[in-house]
Amino acid sequence: MSKNILFINGSLRKKSFNQTLVDYIKSQLEKKGHRVEQLDFINLPLFNQDIEFPAPSEVQKIRDIIKKSDALWIVSPEYNGTFPGGLKNFLDWASRPIEQGVFGPPSFIKDKLVAVSGAAGRSGAASVRENLIKLLTSMSLKPLGTSTGIVLPTEAFQTGEFVLSDENKKELDKQIDDFIKAL
Ligand SMILES: Cc1cc2nc3c(=O)[nH]c(=O)nc-3n(C[C@H](O)[C@H](O)[C@H](O)COP(=O)(O)O)c2cc1C
Repeated sequence: MSKNILFINGSLRKKSFNQTLVDYIKSQLEKKGHRVEQLDFINLPLFNQDIEFPAPSEVQKIRDIIKKSDALWIVSPEYNGTFPGGLKNFLDWASRPIEQGVFGPPSFIKDKLVAVSGAAGRSGAASVRENLIKLLTSMSLKPLGTSTGIVLPTEAFQTGEFVLSDENKKELDKQIDDFIKAL
């Protein structure tokens, strides 16, 4: 059955190497008949409990988009061993209740399947992926057991261009297969 998959790229950069992963995974899922969308979270305000209720319109918009999705896929670079700030800001908003005085994970995101992948320097985004899986679990999402990490080649940093190798594609294909089985 066709599902709605929502992608989130932790990098806000226009020529993001992580976007290359997003585009590949999206195209493979589309070939299998699934619908894909990418979340734009660049205009989210910085999380601040003083502005939570009523939620800013941009926050409401993002909650509605997440609600309509069947599963999420987060692809992220690693910044100083962990999450890029913009991604953490998005996750902080997504973790919060809709109504004041209500506790626990919000229903628009609770129990959703989420896959995690990332491309970074020598670390292959290992640390950010591990931190993300821990955080998403604590937010009551269901992280996929398989996670792909790609070590960006030196040439990518020299030229500003990144092309997935056959080996990279093979690893992503395995994660895509596992994701589809878990959908
Ligand atoms: C602020 C900052 C911190 C970074 N820290 C790490 C790091 O801890 N580990 C790593 O492997 N790469 C690190 N990098 C390199 C990024 O992984 C690399 O720039 C990557 O291309 C960013 O992803 P993007 O191309 O999708 O924007 C860092 C880059 C920036 C800008």
